[in-house]
Amino acid sequence: MSEVLKGIIKDMVVPGKGILAADESVGTAGKRLASIGVENTEEMRRQYRNMILTAPDFGKYISGVILFEETLAHKADSGTLFPDVLKKVGTVPGIKVDQGLQEVNEKKEQVTKGLEGLGERLEKYKKTGARFTKWRAVYTISESTPSDEIIKQNAADLAKYAKSVQEHGMVPIVEPEVLIDGTHSIDQCEKATSKVLKAVFDALKKENVKLEYTILKPSMVISGKEAENGAGVKEVAQRTIKVLKATVPKELPSINFLSGGQTPEEATAHLNEMHKLGELPWYVSFSYARALQEPALKAWKGKKENLAAAQKAFIQRARLNGLATQGKYSEDME
Ligand code: 13P
Repeated sequence: MSEVLKGIIKDMVVPGKGILAADESVGTAGKRLASIGVENTEEMRRQYRNMILTAPDFGKYISGVILFEETLAHKADSGTLFPDVLKKVGTVPGIKVDQGLQEVNEKKEQVTKGLEGLGERLEKYKKTGARFTKWRAVYTISESTPSDEIIKQNAADLAKYAKSVQEHGMVPIVEPEVLIDGTHSIDQCEKATSKVLKAVFDALKKENVKLEYTILKPSMVISGKEAENGAGVKEVAQRTIKVLKATVPKELPSINFLSGGQTPEEATAHLNEMHKLGELPWYVSFSYARALQEPALKAWKGKKENLAAAQKAFIQRARLNGLATQGKYSEDME
């Protein structure tokens, strides 16, 4: 089993490349399509995925794609199933396996659903070619959150999920997302993120999850979106790396950030800045959804005649993020 997991990590953790999150649920895909005035039908969701996943040079910058269940069974315009389209360009197909969020307390905190029946779903997904998985837990920042109760439960669930995924011969992406929404300071975010990550790695250890075959998808340490005087690029990079160094063991091969509501330019600049801080103990890259797809979505507008321009916009963003993984991006490339 270890040889299988090692091979998956080798294919996913590649210098200059990162992971694309294209696992928007039907509801979230609907929001993205609504932003360009397109109706949320199954066919339009397929066309949206076709636009992104068949962009020329896709495999040059993207080593893995997190898909949503429906996309595993969809075909590109060429007639090829999407997981096979990815394999052909050397990109590893993966799948979101959590089943969304559920509110659990009076503070409106949420836990993630999906442990029930996970083993059977994993076997099914494996047959379609998926080789890695993702599970997302979320945390809000306020006077009273994230609560110790939520930090503990999400950590335990992430660890159970990761254990099960490895037992089924796939690599788990563990995604604890401290949300950017709110007026909180970067100090509050640093404190919350440290607590969350510490609990996650304690739980992974307790479940004997093999860290060398696990990928972490964290949020950055950043000021709340509505905060006054938000921290600058350097500070975000420094604080993020400081927290990660204090909480993430060196055996973990790769950290791939989510974008979480940052603009595409911010997400690229933050990642780039982290690579200017000297050598890092893990590969540090991206696993963005919005920050990679937004420019392409805007250029596409659901129209066939815009396909080439939209794919060009996607690849431009992917290329800049690829450069950021090496600290070689600069603002004037925008
Ligand atoms: P964003 O990069 O848009 O935050 O999405 C990443 C993701 O996969 C959320 O689960």
